[in-house]
Amino acid sequence: MDLRDFIDMCERAGQLKRVKAEVDWNLEISHVSKLVEEKGGPALLFEKVKGYGSPVFTGAFATTQRLGLILGKGTDLSMVQLTKEWMNLAIGELIPAQEKKDGPIFENIVDGEKIDAYMFPSPKFYELDGGRYFGTTVFLVMKDPETDEVNLGTYRMQLLDKKTLGVQILKGKRGDIILQKYRKMGKKMPVCAIIGGDPLLLLAGAAMVARASEYDVVGSLRGSPVEIVRGRRTGLPIPAHAEIVLEGEIDPDILREEGPFGEFIGYYTDELIKPIPKPTLEVKCIYHRNNPILWETSAGRPVTDVHMLLSFTQSAMLWTELARMEIPGIKSVYMPPEAAGRFWTIVSVEQMYPGHAEQVGSAVIATNTASYCCKGVIVVDHDVAADDLPRVWWALGTRFSPARGTQIINRGRATPLDPALEPGTDKLITSRIILNATIPFEWKIKPTEIKLSEAMLDRVTSRWKEYGLE
Ligand SMILES: Cc1cc2nc3c(=O)[nH]c(=O)nc-3n(C[C@H](O)[C@H](O)[C@H](O)COP(=O)(O)O)c2cc1C
Repeated sequence: MDLRDFIDMCERAGQLKRVKAEVDWNLEISHVSKLVEEKGGPALLFEKVKGYGSPVFTGAFATTQRLGLILGKGTDLSMVQLTKEWMNLAIGELIPAQEKKDGPIFENIVDGEKIDAYMFPSPKFYELDGGRYFGTTVFLVMKDPETDEVNLGTYRMQLLDKKTLGVQILKGKRGDIILQKYRKMGKKMPVCAIIGGDPLLLLAGAAMVARASEYDVVGSLRGSPVEIVRGRRTGLPIPAHAEIVLEGEIDPDILREEGPFGEFIGYYTDELIKPIPKPTLEVKCIYHRNNPILWETSAGRPVTDVHMLLSFTQSAMLWTELARMEIPGIKSVYMPPEAAGRFWTIVSVEQMYPGHAEQVGSAVIATNTASYCCKGVIVVDHDVAADDLPRVWWALGTRFSPARGTQIINRGRATPLDPALEPGTDKLITSRIILNATIPFEWKIKPTEIKLSEAMLDRVTSRWKEYGLE
């Protein structure tokens, strides 16, 4: 599976629209994409971008149907059914990537004076943005200099000049920890920025995978190895079927101004909306396929493509971590895209002992996934699916008692992008709340839920047309 296969699958499933009218990279692509994504419309392939000969693809993840296609599970599963599929696959054996000598990514090789990162139709998204963004649906490949482990991470990338891109690797991410190792060694970090290949790679790159290379995790999700080739300069593994690769290095000591950018939280968080010094990728070589597809998300306010992606990967990774903790009774896990896909978590649990629901709430915020910026956990009983928001509200309205069911945790890791942090603060600390909206396990007498009679339901269903109700 590569990006082109995925686009074909979307087209066959009625989940793709080709835009043949000429569009401008300057705000127009992002605005069309945003409006279509907010309505849950099709993915878009902009075939004619003003001044360019190659297309831009947007909206890949904006519906559960397309997330289902990426996972190879068809278009009928709900978000929690899809995340459960991921969880079941992710706890299995890793399948290592398979090395090939050649691949379509080497169809075109651009180096030396010909390097020009503006050769692709990178969009400018919002008026207050600091420039054009090559990388919104991109991942960076790097190698840990101490362990040789390969890491993939999705970090936004802004075009600064023909050979330089600003890269926002936030503090404390695995990518940042690796970059700091290169700094201590006084070395530049070799990297490859990748667009395209199997869309699962992008999902894995955006997830906090701590134990292995995302290539091998994707192998286990896909059930077959990712095919990789080696970058000619860095020797780093790159997907043989990627669309575009920028190969180069990041000097940990050279920072240049990057941003601002209309973030996925729906705000600009850079103080006073100004550019901030960030590490930069110096491009030494460009590889691309013929007619390369530049893949982008539209970021900005929820709910769009990137929020669906985050909701999916965060819920799936969180569920995987909870499964590894061997906590019994977990029925579903959901981080709603409306809360930007990472700030709130809902877990449905079949309680088996007193304190079980509290254990689940505490376990969630102890995971790697939720410990980064999650502000609230709602625990519901197993008769309420975590992604059934009307029923979650019903549980909060009826089973939840604030004094009994609320725990506040005063300090936890925040994202610097959180607009609830005081402006100008350098303390990346958030508080958290756990809301236990379950009926206490130990109660001897429990509220009796109103149920429809099965026998009468059968009768009514069989007479439905007789009532004149279509
Ligand atoms: C579309 C998208 C854009 C992202 N942009 C950034 C970014 O600019 N900087 C960042 O640190 N994390 C960003 N993330 C989150 C990281 O990809 C995520 O935290 C990932 O775990 C980082 O990889 P690492 O843990 O290997 O460092 C983004 C995620 C998505 C889905």
